[in-house]
Formats: sequence, C-alpha cells, structure tokens
Amino acid sequence: MAEHDDKIKVIIADDVAETREILEKALYFEKDIVVVAKAANGREALQLCKQHQPDVVLMDINMPELDGIAATEAIVAQIPGTQVIIMSVQSEQEYLRRAMLAGAREYLIKPPDTDELVRSIRHVYKLRASAPRLAAGSTDTTTARTDQGKVIAVFSPKGGSGCTVVAANMAVALKQITNKRVALVDGNMVFGDVGVVMNIVANKTVLDLASRVNDMDAQLINDVTVPHTSQVRVLLAPPDSQSGEGISPDQLRSVLEGLRSQFDYIVVDTQTSYDDRTLTLLDVADRILVLMTLELTAIKNVKQFCELAGPLGYPDDKLMLVLNKADSRLGIRAESIEGQIRHKVTAQIGNAPYEMTLALNQGVPLVIDRRNHPVAKDITALAALTANALAPAAPAQANGAAGNGKAAAAAPVPQEAPSKGLFGRLLTKR
Ligand SMILES: Nc1ncnc2c1ncn2[C@@H]1O[C@H](COP(=O)(O)OP(=O)(O)O)[C@@H](O)[C@H]1O
Ligand SMILES: [Mg+2]
Repeated sequence: MAEHDDKIKVIIADDVAETREILEKALYFEKDIVVVAKAANGREALQLCKQHQPDVVLMDINMPELDGIAATEAIVAQIPGTQVIIMSVQSEQEYLRRAMLAGAREYLIKPPDTDELVRSIRHVYKLRASAPRLAAGSTDTTTARTDQGKVIAVFSPKGGSGCTVVAANMAVALKQITNKRVALVDGNMVFGDVGVVMNIVANKTVLDLASRVNDMDAQLINDVTVPHTSQVRVLLAPPDSQSGEGISPDQLRSVLEGLRSQFDYIVVDTQTSYDDRTLTLLDVADRILVLMTLELTAIKNVKQFCELAGPLGYPDDKLMLVLNKADSRLGIRAESIEGQIRHKVTAQIGNAPYEMTLALNQGVPLVIDRRNHPVAKDITALAALTANALAPAAPAQANGAAGNGKAAAAAPVPQEAPSKGLFGRLLTKR
C-alpha cells in the first residue's frame, strides 16, 4: 500500500454496517488517516489485519464469530505493529476492562464524537512508535512462578512530577480493570500525601506494621490497611515526621514482603530522594514507573537516574519510563528525549492541571469520578500495560537470564540492604 505510506492506516471492525459507514465518514476528511478496510466480525478483522498490517484497528466489542476481545488478543499476539482501540456502549464496562487487559490501547464509548475518535487514533499511533506493547503473559521472565503479589513503585527523581497522584489513580485503575486485590502504600515516611489524595483519615499507619514485622499475618494486615471506596486498601504514612524517621529500611522491606502475601498488586508512592528507605522500596519493586515531565530539569534528573539503575542492579526492563503532564505545546518531543536518555518512553499521561488539582483537593482520584477524561484513560491504559507486563510468564519464554524486577532485584542487591545512602551502595558494588 505504497500510496498510504505516510498516513495512519485504520481498519474498522463492527458488525453493524451503518456504524462502519459513520465511522468511515467521520475519518474521511482527516488528511493523515486512511481507512484501508472494514470488517463485520472479529475473524474478518484478524484476517484483514494480517493482510493490510494497519496501524490502528477500531474494534467493536460485541461481534459475531469472534468477539472484539478475542480478536484483540489475537491481533496483539500476531501483528505487533497494530494498535487496537476498543469501542463499546456505556453498559459494557466489564468488557472494556477485559479488552484493555487483552491488549487494547484505548477505549471509546459509542458513539464517539469525531474529535475524540481522531484524537484517539493519533494518540495510539504515537504510542506505537515509542512503546513496546505487552500482551498478557508474554513478558515476565521470572523463572519461579509464585502467587506473590507484585510491587509497582512510582518514583521520580524530580519532585512534583505527579508520583502521588499517579500512584493513587494507578491503584484504583488496577482494581477497576483486574478486580484483583490491590494495595496502595504511602512510601513517603516523612511527607506522606496519599491520605489526602484518597481522602482517608485513619489512625492505622505503616508504623503499626513496621513495629510488628515478625508477627505480620493476614489479620494484622487487614486491620492496618484502610479500605477505600474503590476497594483498594491503603497503607498510610506515619502521622508525624518524627515517627516516620524512625522506620528503618529493613522494616519497610519486611512490610512490603508481608503485603505480597495478601495482595496481587501493591502500588507504592515514593518520595523524590535517594535515601535508604526510598532505595529499599525501589529494590523491592518488580517495576518502577519512573515519572518524567517535559522540563529540562526533570529530563536531566531522569537521565541521571537511568544511568544509576545499572549500578544499582536494576535491569532495563524493571524501569518503565512514563511521561506525565505530556503536552505537545511544551516544545519537547518524547522521541527526542528517548535519544537523549537512551531509554524508551513506555507511556504518556496527558496534562490536565485543573482537573488533577480539583480531583486532588476533593480527594477523589480522576479514574473514579471522570473515567472518560483523556488523562484517566491514559492512566487506565498504563495500569493495563503494567498488569500485562507483570503477568506470569508464558513457559516458552521463561528464561532465567534477564529476569524481571523481582528476580533481578533479589539477585544483585543484598537482602540486608546496606544503610549507606546512594554513594555507599555504589561503592560497595565495585
Ligand atoms: N497528568 C497531570 N496533569 C496535570 N497536573 C498533574 C498531572 N499529574 C500530576 N499533576 C499535578 O502535579 C502536582 C504534583 O503532583 P504530586 O502527585 O503531588 O507529585 P509528586 O508526588 O511527584 O511530588 C499536583 O498539583 C498534581 O495535581
Ligand atoms: Mg508525592
């Protein structure tokens, strides 16, 4: 299809002929988009995707023969360059979740308005260029399969990048799409903000676990974590900075290891610091979402962190670089940053200062109250991507060499983390 080489090639899959026509017409005047084929069911969509290798498929969920979820799964597995946008009516929320887990990159509620449709197509097309897409079960290279929960640390080497807000939204989004057991942990012992962002006031905090790491059982963990309306359970930071300072890195490590037995996902908000507590949280994590904003100072610090990751014993695939507050008007493009810091940007979260601050002040994460806001969708997509990246390994791909964060973190970083700060650690590794 040489004549379409410079355009975003789209396939429309919907069993209702009228819907296919409406969508095609809506895209007709977009100079950078071309509809290369239309399918009336999932099987046809898969076949046409193999034939045309489109950039984007608009996929209805409910279709005969092969439904949109099964078709998405097949396309994700078989045609790596194709991104799927799933479409469904409002009442199919449960299917939407499954579709995101099957590897869809974005979802649209039917009928989408033209602006939203076009924006989504361009958006997932851009993701194609930067991010590896992770199909369920295809990426985790852990050798030993366990039922232990996965720890996802949200970290930024630049303060104010959005760690707390993103961690809170990620935890809720993970709950929404996987319906597994999710904990949100405030890993900032001194200036913990998670309680505010989630609007939780409680007198149980991490102190209650840290002081009893040796008899931490399901009952104690249940007592100390605070239930949120989203069904995420929250482990709050100590009430005052003095008691926070008293918690040791080893205690924190034990707390997180204890939580692994009770939760499937443990999302940890961390502070911007290279102190021993924060480094311990990063050591323990299976994945670190490294947040970066489009400011030169943030980029500089992230570059520095990526360079430290090797010496700290974190393999490349442990870090997931996330561009937060992404805005094309800021004059820096994600692609140019990737070259500079020599790390792929895994995902982008749009910029919505007003909505984010309002959500923060109201104590209700955006993914709860405004699920269809583009930024909420970005975070939901990131949650799905992360869940997929952490899914158990497909046996054929399991090899001990690379290791995911957990395996790798356990190997080069001693269990008894040296309390020597960043420099001490780097020196002992020589
Ligand atoms: N995607 C976003 N768009 C706009 N503003 C954001 C976004 N993410 C976070 N913010 C804002 O950035 C500020 C810092 O967020 P916060 O989560 O406290 O950062 P950190 O925990 O990294 O210091 C807050 O005002 C928050 O509302
Ligand atoms: Mg914070």
